[in-house]
Amino acid sequence: MSSDLSNKKRVEIDLDYIMPETSFIYPLYSYDGEKLLDEREVLTQSKIKAIREKYGNKVYYSLSDSRDSKILPSIVYDKTLNRSKDFFDDIIFSGKFTKDSYKKSEEIIEDILKDLNSRELVAINLLKDMRNYDEYLYYHSVNVGLLSALLARKIRVYKGDEIKKVVLGAYLSDLGKIQIDKKIIDKPDRLSTEENIQIRLHPQLGYNMIKIIEGIDPIILQTVLFHHERFDDEGYYSLPYESLPTSPKIVAICDTYDALTSPKPYRQAYSSSEALKIILNSVDKQFDRHIVSTFINLMGTMLNNSMSFYKKGDFCILNTGELAIIRDINSMDLMSPKIIIFAKFEKSDSSTSIKFFQNPIEVDLMNDFNRKLSNIILHKKLIDLIRDKLKEKKLLSDYFYMSLPEWQ
Ligand SMILES: [Fe+2]
Repeated sequence: MSSDLSNKKRVEIDLDYIMPETSFIYPLYSYDGEKLLDEREVLTQSKIKAIREKYGNKVYYSLSDSRDSKILPSIVYDKTLNRSKDFFDDIIFSGKFTKDSYKKSEEIIEDILKDLNSRELVAINLLKDMRNYDEYLYYHSVNVGLLSALLARKIRVYKGDEIKKVVLGAYLSDLGKIQIDKKIIDKPDRLSTEENIQIRLHPQLGYNMIKIIEGIDPIILQTVLFHHERFDDEGYYSLPYESLPTSPKIVAICDTYDALTSPKPYRQAYSSSEALKIILNSVDKQFDRHIVSTFINLMGTMLNNSMSFYKKGDFCILNTGELAIIRDINSMDLMSPKIIIFAKFEKSDSSTSIKFFQNPIEVDLMNDFNRKLSNIILHKKLIDLIRDKLKEKKLLSDYFYMSLPEWQ
């Protein structure tokens, strides 16, 4: 084995979980320590194929590979956070958002965008565990700006300078909170109805603060004002979701992800995987399918060293009300795994029951245009109940059961 990989803790990556066009911040090696890719070299479809043919499905990187500080954005990220803290402190102190504040916020965004180029994976890793309650506003603002930059580029509705406006809108989306009583913002318990009404004013308050800036772009204003609208029209203003511009929708999903992965006084932080499952389960409720799918495919493969956030053996519910088990993850589209459908939910007036099929059906959601993934089941008791029923009815092959170690 080459010295590059020996004597170091190495991390295994399954090529099935890597999206083509991904790059890693570390070099990748074969099992025997042969260097397969340089750091940041893009893994194209053809490279994945060539590696798979010669070395099989597993590649490795070493956790102790030194990172070149010049290519790590953490310094810039820290600097951005510090500038962001000064920025918000200034506005809190003066109570005003001036032309100068606007210029400063633009510079912070420039930093975020400059830093993102070719460093997406590291950027995501930086979001982890870097927040506490007191610092939440500016950490959250930088994180949501960063995530929105990534998503806006993937969604391809905006080009060039427009992306900058989306990111600026994202960064300023919670600005209005500085005008709300800090006791409510910092409250460690769940909010009362009255306090919730106060919090729900923050998009309007933020909008009022920035609309006076001469020449401010409508993308920024719309993003700040509409970032709490929902697909089911149950958002702060109950506006029709389909008529909203894309930028507040981008910010809404990034805002939710960062909020879920942050610790709150009344709950622990969700892991990245849990947060993505919660977001997936909010399709057609909080967010539309297209935006969820793009976000999931952007984030799902970047996290946990490119492992997917759900796994073989997880149960899911389809838009048809059918119940299925994940048979294989599809690295081309995490929203379209290969599944085995084995039951259907049946609703009567008073209850919901599960009707199991005699013969389960194997489906590749990539090739089935009527069926869509709606929900990954998270409820432990329901998971155990379905597992027991499946085993009792022997609906899946022994081979499939054997491939699920935790079922043994
Ligand atoms: Fe907000």
